[in-house]
This record gives sequence, C-alpha cells and structure tokens, in this order.
Amino acid sequence: MSIRNDTVARQVTPAYDVARIRHDFPALHQEIHGKPLVYLDNGASAQKPRAVIDAISEFYAHDYANVHRAVHTLGERATQTYEAAREKARHFINARSPEEIIFVRGTTEAINLVAQSYGRNTLRAGDEVILTQMEHHSNIVPWQLLREQTGIVLRVVPIDDSGELILDELEKLFNRRTRLLTLTHLSNALGTINPVHRIIEMAHARNVLVLLDAAQAVPHLSVDMQALDCDFYAFSGHKLYGPSGIGVLYGKKDLLAAMPPYQGGGEMIRYVTFEKTEYADLPCKFEAGTPNIAGAVGLGAAIDYVSGIGLAAIAAHEQDLLAYATDRAAEVAGMRIVGTAREKASILSFELAGIHPHDIGTILDSEGIAIRAGHHCAMPVMRRFGVPATARASFGMYNTRDEIDALIAALHRAREVIR
Ligand code: ALA
Repeated sequence: MSIRNDTVARQVTPAYDVARIRHDFPALHQEIHGKPLVYLDNGASAQKPRAVIDAISEFYAHDYANVHRAVHTLGERATQTYEAAREKARHFINARSPEEIIFVRGTTEAINLVAQSYGRNTLRAGDEVILTQMEHHSNIVPWQLLREQTGIVLRVVPIDDSGELILDELEKLFNRRTRLLTLTHLSNALGTINPVHRIIEMAHARNVLVLLDAAQAVPHLSVDMQALDCDFYAFSGHKLYGPSGIGVLYGKKDLLAAMPPYQGGGEMIRYVTFEKTEYADLPCKFEAGTPNIAGAVGLGAAIDYVSGIGLAAIAAHEQDLLAYATDRAAEVAGMRIVGTAREKASILSFELAGIHPHDIGTILDSEGIAIRAGHHCAMPVMRRFGVPATARASFGMYNTRDEIDALIAALHRAREVIR
C-alpha cells in the first residue's frame, strides 16, 4: 500500500477512542464506596450516554404530547419524532418496512406478544415448539403459559460443556408437528453467540418459523433482518444504551398482518361499535394505549449514538476485552469460566472455588466494581453446569483493560478475605 493510501485508510477508520466514549457517559464518572466505579454489569443493563439523556429531556421540555391523536402542533411534532424513532429502529436492523417494527416494553413483552397472538391463534394441541437449554426465562415461561392454554409440546435443544448448542440434537427434534423454533441469538448467562444463519436455514427447510431473542445481541452484533431472514426478532432499549421500558418486536409483515391484536384499547383500532371493532393497520394494531413515547425517542437517540461509533468497532473493542479478561482469569486460583463457546461475546460468567457468587458480588461492590451474581434468569443453564449461580462480568463499549485489571486484583483480594 502506498503511503498516501495508508493515510486515507487511517482517516476512514479512526482509532477506537474509549476515553472519548467514556466522557459521553455521566454515570461512569463517580465513586462507589470511595473507589472509582467500574461498571461491568452491562448484560443486565447498560449506562446511558448524554445524547440519550438529553434527547429525552429535550423532548419532554419542548415537543411532548400524545401521538397519533392530536391535530395540534405539539401532537404532530411528537408523532413525527416517535415515528422517526421507528424509522431509526427499522434502519438499524435493516427491516423492509416500518410496519414491521412494533414498539413494546422490551424483549419480554415482545416474546409474550408472539406467544399470545401468533401462538394462541395458530398453534393447536400437539403442535411443537423448540427452544433451547440456554434460554432466559423470558423465552421459556411465555411458551409454558401457552402450553397450559393450548396443549402445545415444548422440546429443548441441549448444550455441550462449552455452552454451544448441539445442532445434531436440534436436527433430531424437528418433526411434522414442529411449528416454531425460538432461541436466543446470544446467551446472557454464557456469552455464546449462536450460529443463527445456519439454524434459521435448518428451520426454514422444514417450514418452521424462527423467533430470535436478541436482548443481548443487538449491543454487540450488527444485524440485518433481510439477510438473516428470521421471522421474529425481539430486543430491548436498555441494554443498547437506551432507556428501559422500550423495546422492539420485529416481525415479517405478512405474519404480523395475519396475527390478532395482543391487547385491546386506544390507538389500535380503526372503528369501534358494541357489535364489532375494526383494527388499525400495522404497526398500530399492536400498540394499544399511549405508548412509551419518550422511551422511543431515547431509543432512537441510542441507535444514533451506537451507529455513530459503529457496531464493528464496538465489537472489535469488546472482543479485545473478552480475550484479555479470559487470559487474566487464568491467574486467579480457583476461577472457572462457565461458557467457553468458540463464538462468544463479551460476557465472562465464572465461579471462584469456595466463594458463593453473591459474596463475590458484595466484595466487588465494596471495591466499586459492579457485576451481576445469581442465576441470570437462566436457571436451566445453571442446572446444566451444576452450579446454583455464577458471578458475571459483562463488558460494554466503554469498558477498558484497566477496569479488567481492577476486577482481577479485586478477585485476588476476595480470595484473601474468604480464605
Ligand atoms: N436478562 C438480564 C441479565 O442477563 C437482566 O442480567
């Protein structure tokens, strides 16, 4: 490469500036118990950049009104801003149409919506739904509720010792009654990134629909609905550096159009009499009641922020953190990583021999380090690995190698304290 081209290449791909990114997140700059905060609980929820906080605040200060109802100026402004957020979400996951983007409270509500609208309307006793051993409770319990209502059968794909799905076992579970495969894109408890392209091909070859729980995936992976071709895709705003209480259900338009409403109320109707109600078109059909308008605005700002940095750059930074943390974990006596899949995102679930994960969490908190300890709403995963709980450090776009050094040093000290 010539010197000139090299210069151009460097201009096009600037270095990842984690200091500048950290500067954008006010919550990171505080002390906890007299120590600088080290926030490693991004899998549970991520901190918010100033751009998101300001977008919500500005919206409430200047543009707030209800949406889709008013003829007055503020109502029109709020509607435009809300629909602009929908368009940002559409673009972010490359869906074909904004009608395929339903605003919901979060991933959990999205999955419940599919179970109760698509599932209850379409599935019959004896029809089969496949899920996996690594699912979050949010992708287990809605299907158990549906099983009680309809008599469907649930089948579970096992995982191996590294935390990867055993695809040969998935292959064996398909049969002529299989209707839907619902699985996580990225495991919150293990960090495993599932080979979803291949899995969707396997399912579609048998006319089986696929729902992906992408709560953990969207902050770490660039996704494209048209390339992926999944049927439903669910994610939350709060793990994507946006507000809580807002998320997206993507569904293919023909599927959503054929599904009955999930909830009844305002906004989702065209015409109501006591004899009959005509429903609104997509996406309003699934957005009964006044939505989380400011939440959608905040999600739009989060999408702008993440897109401005670029998911490829974020993923490369986080992969460096994961590799560094995995190497350094080997220095801590008695530390066992739970979840060692070949394709993994920046989630480090672990045990420390002789110390309960909750005690690890409490000791680390006293050092200003925030991690999650517990079953991570994935009790079947804990059972599979024979542990009641794990400690989990989950890294986001603003974390640094220095923070991993702080984590490792604190784990050494935890061993000293408990010894
Ligand atoms: N599901 C979130 C987690 O993994 C809350 O922590």
